[in-house]
Amino acid sequence: MKNTLIAPSVLSADFANLQRDIEMINNSEADWFHIDIMDGVFVPNISFGMPVLEAITRHAKKTIDVHLMIVNPDQYIKTFAQLGATNLTVHIEACTHLHRTLQAIKAEGMKAGIAVNPHTNVSLLEDVIKDVDVVCLMSVNPGFGGQSFIERTYDKVKQLKEIITRNGASTLIEIDGGVSDKNAKQLVEAGADVLVAGNYVFRAEDPVATIAGLKKLTSF
Ligand code: DX5
Ligand code: ZN
Repeated sequence: MKNTLIAPSVLSADFANLQRDIEMINNSEADWFHIDIMDGVFVPNISFGMPVLEAITRHAKKTIDVHLMIVNPDQYIKTFAQLGATNLTVHIEACTHLHRTLQAIKAEGMKAGIAVNPHTNVSLLEDVIKDVDVVCLMSVNPGFGGQSFIERTYDKVKQLKEIITRNGASTLIEIDGGVSDKNAKQLVEAGADVLVAGNYVFRAEDPVATIAGLKKLTSF
């Protein structure tokens, strides 16, 4: 049976009640905390930085999946390891020496992820796929929660899945942006392993039930 991992995106949490929202995720069927770090340069928005991440990891009891939307991610790899990141994902569009960056992330004891913008072809991952633990396929343009899902993503998932299988890699495919009950099942059928959900979870009347619903819908 497929066990799809659900990763609520903390960007959509209520920052005035951050501990409450973290406990909600702890007590739900969610698998990962998805944490978006934005620098206002790589993306046109600034989210939060080290002190907030430190506060999150102090309470979070599940995998900490950090999605860096920043330029020069190499200079912060050690810091994110010290702050408790389990997975560290960098954007392919932000890395000149991607292979080196992946090695540096692993050397700090973290799982290495690559995020891919909607305009980037997944064939660019062919030569590094065996070194990648997670590919985060952006199904919106990064920078904001609550945007509409880009339909082209289904084809990208299938294409990426084919590359992973052909190379004998065990890379997970994560989908980030606009995920809801409208697209979750179809994404998993295409090959997705991890679903990030921000607004769909945190704007719901009952976030715990919404997470459980996503989990049920994608476990078959
Ligand atoms: C977008 C972020 C996403 C975002 C997802 O730049 O990387 O993780 O929080 O939020 P929703 O699910 O609301 O699109
Ligand atoms: Zn993200």
